[in-house]
Amino acid sequence: MHISNILSVASLAALTAAAPSELERRQQNCVFTDFDKIAPLKKYCDVIALRNIHVPAGKSLDLTDLKTGAHVIFEGKTTFGYAEWDGPLVKVSGKQITVRQTEGSVLDGEGARWWDYHGGNGGKTKPHFFSAHNLDDSRIEGISVKNSPVHCFSLDSKNLVVSGVKIDNSDGDDKGAYNTDAFDVAHSYNLTIENAWVHNQDDCLAINQGDNIRFTNGYCYGGHGLSIGSVGDGNTVSNVEITNSQIINSMNGVRIKTKSGHTGEVRNITYRNITLSGITDYGLIVQQDYNNPGHATNGIKVHEITFDNIHGTATQKGYNIALTCGEGSCYNWTWKNVKIHGARDYKCQNYPSTASCSAA
Ligand SMILES: *[C@@H]1O[C@H](CO)[C@@H](O)[C@H](O)[C@H]1NC(C)=O
Ligand SMILES: *[C@@H]1O[C@H](CO)[C@@H](O)[C@H](O)[C@H]1NC(C)=O
Ligand SMILES: *[C@@H]1O[C@H](CO)[C@@H](O)[C@H](O)[C@H]1NC(C)=O
Ligand SMILES: *[C@@H]1O[C@H](CO)[C@@H](O)[C@H](O)[C@H]1NC(C)=O
Repeated sequence: MHISNILSVASLAALTAAAPSELERRQQNCVFTDFDKIAPLKKYCDVIALRNIHVPAGKSLDLTDLKTGAHVIFEGKTTFGYAEWDGPLVKVSGKQITVRQTEGSVLDGEGARWWDYHGGNGGKTKPHFFSAHNLDDSRIEGISVKNSPVHCFSLDSKNLVVSGVKIDNSDGDDKGAYNTDAFDVAHSYNLTIENAWVHNQDDCLAINQGDNIRFTNGYCYGGHGLSIGSVGDGNTVSNVEITNSQIINSMNGVRIKTKSGHTGEVRNITYRNITLSGITDYGLIVQQDYNNPGHATNGIKVHEITFDNIHGTATQKGYNIALTCGEGSCYNWTWKNVKIHGARDYKCQNYPSTASCSAA
């Protein structure tokens, strides 16, 4: 990546002392190689190049409150010191921000230092990786993340596009990585996640609150599938389209999970053109008893739901389709070309007559 008119960080620092207001007006391209320089200078930069940054243990790479329109460019390998804390390792906020990287770069969490066969609720305290909270009217493009200690992207923004992100946690499969959700979505409005490539050990996507969300052209390997939820605590998830994606060798395929005894709403969700293979537990599952198996309740309506062209295989010990609704809380579903086979039939309950519980 070529940046013209690069101002070195040293001369930028000198200028900062002289005329901060003038600096804010001028175009500044900043190249950082040293973590400590970023915080005091970032707000003046239109381009923030982060070259082989090492983030000290227990600290976030804090890219919050950036100048409107700033471009953040990761270059080389970004690494993090080891501490047992909640993180996040990276946080970004601002308006009209673009976050991208030069080819071949990687954010390497070196998660093996934390993995211990426990998730967020036991063992070592593990840092979440990347938080996009109030990263509005912005884009995250082509970022490559390796070996997240626990949850990878937390998205909580308006009008955000996340495009071509790669999350490779494959080293964690046999080293005890847990709860390595790829994309956790909360309080997001107008979010698009497209062309994601994920190999992880928990949800590829989990939307527990938000409106107008699109996930398309995703590849999900090894995790827990593409999920709405878990929904509870009065939350609403509405107007979601999950399309043209593959889910391979994962625990679940497509899933809507709501909590027993809770209120909330799941409305206008479409899953279309999803290919499954090697699903070990549930090919397609809607469960209203997520936190209390066997006790589905009807305080959360799951309605205006479309499953269209969901096809592929689950393995013998799993179930093809599992629908566990509360009384009258699942309705107005469209069910077209759902063809999942290879596993057992489940004893479904309270599902709409338009749906089907058996393999096809
Ligand atoms: C979502 O996008 C629509 C259409 O572009 C826009 O009208 C609306 O204001 C956006 N919502 C938010 C919360 O920005
Ligand atoms: C359902 O959600 C989609 C976006 O995913 C939107 O385009 C459509 O208008 C919504 N339909 C209704 C009835 O709200
Ligand atoms: C279905 O999704 C696959 C990707 O999994 C894509 O290649 C194909 O074009 C999609 N089909 C349609 C009709 O959109
Ligand atoms: C189901 O959908 C139809 C039309 O799409 C609508 O008229 C009806 O009110 C919905 N039913 C419920 C119970 O919301």
